This record gives sequence, structure tokens and C-alpha cells, in this order.
Amino acid sequence: MSRMAPHTQPILPLSLERVSYSIGPATLLQDISLTIPAGRRLLVMGANGAGKSLFLRLCHGLIDPVSGRRTWASAEPRPKAQAMVFQRPVLLRRSVAENLAYPLALDGMERAARADLVAQTLDRFGLRPMANRPARLLSGGEQQRLALARAWAMRPQILFLDEPTSALDPSATRMIEGMVAQFADEGITIVMTTHNLGQARRLAQDVAFLHRGRMIEHQAADTFFAGPETPEARAFLAGDLVW
Ligand SMILES: Nc1ncnc2c1ncn2[C@@H]1O[C@H](COP(=O)(O)OP(=O)(O)O)[C@@H](O)[C@H]1O
Ligand SMILES: [Mg+2]
Repeated sequence: MSRMAPHTQPILPLSLERVSYSIGPATLLQDISLTIPAGRRLLVMGANGAGKSLFLRLCHGLIDPVSGRRTWASAEPRPKAQAMVFQRPVLLRRSVAENLAYPLALDGMERAARADLVAQTLDRFGLRPMANRPARLLSGGEQQRLALARAWAMRPQILFLDEPTSALDPSATRMIEGMVAQFADEGITIVMTTHNLGQARRLAQDVAFLHRGRMIEHQAADTFFAGPETPEARAFLAGDLVW
């Protein structure tokens, strides 16, 4: 079975052209332009409140720009072949297996195909032993593993992850990092935020650095970590609080 089967049209690159977002008088994202090509791992960094979560939500289509343009390679305004994972997994009050099956059903996948994919996903992510347990009784790390497995089962071309490990202990963090790296190896485009600099260094190919709602750096990760252009990013890497 092709992983891309249900959503064959390529949706990437995603391009933002002079995108801004505001709530009332507050401009929270300002004049951001960038292109996210297929197959890259982009880490979005910046201090607390810089706009990272809003940026991901805007890319994913949970919020819309108030000015500027967000366009996908496919014509749809909000293509289906994308998924998002949050810091705290949003799980249904149902079993692990049902948490995997439900979004596939919503997506219109027929029963037999759904059962196959759920079985394949349970095995691949080591969730088989807990398939019938209530998802909300899993440990934090297991819940996040389920959230990523559920995203994978949707066969996204791009996966947005908003601080997926910041509520987890080091071993669960490494497990989630391994999953993200595997997804990337399969060709899934990754856009992720983290406060963990080591994690950013391990996973990033590209870095976008946000400061007060503006993207003040966007470059290859090697270049960024070797020496950012802006004093704000330098201070951030040095561990200073930037706001
Ligand atoms: N719904 C909202 N209403 C008003 N302000 C908001 C809202 N959501 C986010 N903000 C503000 O926008 C800024 C960026 O938020 P966010 O994207 O969550 O930052 P980050 O993820 O980088 O910590 C913050 O100052 C935050 O307080
Ligand atoms: Mg955030």
C-alpha cells in the first residue's frame, strides 16, 4: 500500500507571502515570508511568546492570516494531507485503537482498510499491548507516542509538531525524537518547535527564528548554530532570556 494513497496530489511547497496575524490591536505575527519545500525538517525557534505556536497554527490552517497569502502547491486552501501534534496530546475518551480508527473513519476510509491500517499502526509503534486500554490512562510518553502514531496513520505529507516533548521525561523525549526522525526518513516534511536546544540541533535541517512575531532569521541549521546573524538569536543560543 502506498503511504500517499489517499492524498496523491503533492501539497508542498507551502508558501507564506508577507503574512501577518493580529488579534484586536495586537499584531502577533508580522510580515512573514518563507517557503517550506517538501522533504525538509524545519525547526521554529524563539523565546516564550515569540509567536511559534501561532506560526504553526497559521501554517496548518487553524487560523488564517489577516493579510498576506498562504498557498499550497495543491489548489485547496487547507489540504488534508497534513497533521499537527501538540505539547499535550488531545486524545478521545476511548481506547488506544479507537483513537487511531476514529480520524480515519472521519476521513472516509472504509471499515476493512481502516482495520488494516489500525493494526499496522499498533504494531509499528509498539502500541499493540495497550490497544484496548483507555487512551487517557496511558503515561505521558505513551500518550504522545499514540498522538504521533495517529498522525502517521493519516499519511500526512507534512507534520507540524508544537513542543511535542516539553512535558516529557528524557527517555520519552528520545523516543519521540526517534519517531520524528523516522517520519522524516520516510519523506514526511517536519515543522517543529522546541525549547530544547540539543533536540533542535539533532533534528533541524533548517531553522526559522522568531522574535516578537517577526521571523528575523531563516537559514540552514548548520549556519544558524555556527553563528546566528542577529543579536537576539545569539542571545537565545547563549541561554539568555530574550523578549
Ligand atoms: N488568542 C490570543 N489572544 C491574544 N493574544 C494571544 C493569543 N494567542 C497568543 N497570543 C499572544 O501572542 C504571542 C505569541 O504567542 P505564541 O505563539 O503562543 O508564542 P510561543 O509559542 O512562541 O511561546 C504571545 O504574546 C501570546 O500572549
Ligand atoms: Mg508555544
